[in-house]
This record gives sequence, C-alpha cells and structure tokens, in this order.
Amino acid sequence: MKVLVTGGTGFIGSHTLVELIEAGHDVVVVDNLVNSSAESLNRVAQITGTEPVFYEGDIRDQNLLLDIFGKEAPEAVIHFAGLKAVGESSSKPLEYYDNNIAGTITLLKAMKESGCKNIIFSSSATVYGKPESVPIREDFKVGEVTNPYGRTKLMIEQILQDIYAADNSWNVILLRYFNPIGAHKSGLMGEDPQGIPNNLLPYIAKVAVGQLDHINVFGNDYDTKDGTGVRDYIHVVDLAYGHVKALEKISEAPGLKIYNLGTGNGYSVLEMIRAFSKACGRDLPYVIADRRPGDIDVCYADPALAKKELGWEAKRGIEEMCEDAWRWQSNNPTGYR
Ligand code: NAD
Ligand code: UFG
Repeated sequence: MKVLVTGGTGFIGSHTLVELIEAGHDVVVVDNLVNSSAESLNRVAQITGTEPVFYEGDIRDQNLLLDIFGKEAPEAVIHFAGLKAVGESSSKPLEYYDNNIAGTITLLKAMKESGCKNIIFSSSATVYGKPESVPIREDFKVGEVTNPYGRTKLMIEQILQDIYAADNSWNVILLRYFNPIGAHKSGLMGEDPQGIPNNLLPYIAKVAVGQLDHINVFGNDYDTKDGTGVRDYIHVVDLAYGHVKALEKISEAPGLKIYNLGTGNGYSVLEMIRAFSKACGRDLPYVIADRRPGDIDVCYADPALAKKELGWEAKRGIEEMCEDAWRWQSNNPTGYR
C-alpha cells in the first residue's frame, strides 16, 4: 500500500518507516523538522536500501498537502506529526492547539478533498488520565487529562470519531501508545531529543553517556512496589510493527477501531535505572526528587484487543529495550547532529 507518513522523520515515525518498507509498503513522508532531523531518513535508507520520498513542510500548509495527495495518491495516512512535550504544552498551549489540532484538521480536509479516507492516528495512554484500575482496557473512561498536550490527543480522537459518525466510508484506527523507548537494533536510529530530555529513558541514556550528571527520580512515595512511578515501556520497534498490522487492518475497511499498544507489564523508575545500568555496564547515579506535577502512580496496558484483532503483540523485554537504546546513544552521543 502507498502510505503518507506525517512526522515520519521523528522517533516513532522513522522506526515505523523501516517496518513499513520491510513489509513491502511504499512510503511518502511529510515533516517540518521542528523536532527531528532529515538524517533519520538517510539511516532508514541505510537499513532498508530504500530512500523514502520526502516533502519538507508543515501539515498546516493546505496547498502543500493537496500537492502531495495530487502527486502521490496515498491510499492511507499514518499521522504522527505533532508536538509532544507535556510540560511545554502548559506554557505554550496556543502553539500546541494550533500545531496539533489545526494541523490535523488541515490534514483531514486535504484527505477528504483527495478521496483518501483511511487514517491511523498516534494517540496516547494519556487520554485515560488517572485510571481507576490497571491494566487499562480501551473501553475505560477517557477525558480527565491534566495538560494541553493530552487534551489535543483527546480532541483529535473526538474529531476523528465525529468524522466517522458522519461518513462511515472513513476507516479510522486510534492507536494509544504507552511508553515507547529503545532503538533500532542496528544502532543507526533512535530517540534524539533536543536539550534536556523530559522523558525518563532518554534522560537515563544521557546520564549513561556522561552528558548529564545524575537521574532525578520524581517521587518515591507512590503506591507502587518501590514507591516510584510504574509505566508500560514498549520497544519502539514493536510499536512500529503495530502500525504495519494496523495498516493491514485498515485494508479490510474496519470502520472505527481503538487499540492500546503496550506490553501489559509495568516497571518502576528504579527498575528501569537498574536495567539501563546493566546494559551500559555501570551503576548510574540517581537522587530522589519531588514528585512531578500531573504524574500518576501506575499506568500499564491490557494489550489483549490488539492481539485478538490485529494479531500483534510486543515481543521485546526491558533488557533488550535498554541494550538497544544504549547502542544507539553510545554510537551517536549527539544524536543525528
Ligand atoms: P517526535 O517529535 O520524534 O516526532 C514527531 C514529528 O512530527 C517530528 O519529526 C516533528 O518534526 C514533526 N512535526 C511536528 N509538528 C509538525 C507539523 N506541524 N508539520 C509537520 N511535521 C511536524 O515524536 P514521537 O515520539 O515520534 O511521537 C510521534 C507521535 O506519537 C506524536 O504525535 C506523539 O504525540 C505521539 N505519542 C508519542 C509518545 C512518546 O512517548 N514518544 C507517546 C504517545 C503518543
Ligand atoms: N521520571 C523520573 N525522572 C525523569 C523523568 C521521568 O523519575 O527525569 C518518572 C516519571 O515520574 C514517571 C516515569 O519516570 O513515573 C515515566 O515518565 P516519562 O516522562 O518518561 O513518561 P510519562 O509516562 O510521564 O509520559 C509519557 C509521554 C506522554 C504520554 C504518556 C503516556 O511523555 O506524552 O507517556 O503515553 F502521554
């Protein structure tokens, strides 16, 4: 299938390109490089032998999108493009709503005008807010989100549901990701955050490579096995492959579907520090710091629906996630730059 991948030079997008190409799909990428580097596409080419077709530009640019749909005629869109820093979204809400919501609306209008009505959207476990219990199923209540970033995910889910309700010829798959980490096995591709990382694993990786001094553990008084926050970390290559399976599903015209992409296992911050310490061969220093506002204690998926309906499940454990992240970080201490 020919697929337009928005945000395809980013962390999850670039790994998904590899899996799509290896599964025999044709990919076209649009990205404005606001949080990524086009070098990731060279790495995709190195791994797969195929250079993705790339349009550098913004998904809010309707003329660019119509031009891409006209020239490339993709049959489906995988929509990754968006801003994703939770803290920044609270200080720059307008930028987040404009980029994520207006960007998605512009994309959907161009899709409608071009007759492409198949979309897979990158949503997040953040839409569940603080879950009443774990593991989290897709039919759990959504909506009590504490930050503008999360609200953009929720709003886009609602927009897509409304579009489907008005016109059943659309096929919409909402993928709710848990915590993607790790890197491609080759060590050529991985996560490349700008500045000081917001998320735990890239932060640990920067401590491991000597660019940051120690890890701050945000709270050790949560109601969890060791008091630190528990999350469902998923290898980015497993997550990427989930998109290949979602694309197969979309070709069956499934209507509207929602799937969690997670492993079903929860690990604490301290467990992740230990796993990464093992991968890099030294004990990484950490200090216990205050809780981070908005954080919840435990979040992990029930991934049974994706297994049943997509035939997908995560295969890689935290050891492999940390080893692969470490290979990428130690081979590329300054990322793609
Ligand atoms: P990323 O920042 O690495 O990738 C996003 C890409 O979108 C970047 O390459 C960026 O340059 C591009 N982009 C942003 N705004 C754009 C615009 N207006 N026009 C064109 N390109 C634009 O992030 P990622 O981790 O790969 O995440 C991909 C998607 O998955 C995002 O929508 C994110 O919100 C979602 N998600 C990520 C996580 C996570 O923890 N990484 C968890 C849940 C959901
Ligand atoms: N943490 C630390 N120190 C750090 C960073 C994080 O102790 O320097 C802790 C957090 O308190 C939390 C855990 O590590 O307990 C994971 O934090 P992350 O920031 O890595 O991930 P979150 O679960 O908070 O959020 C991520 C994405 C969101 C997404 C959410 C659910 O950043 O965009 O997963 O998918 F919405």
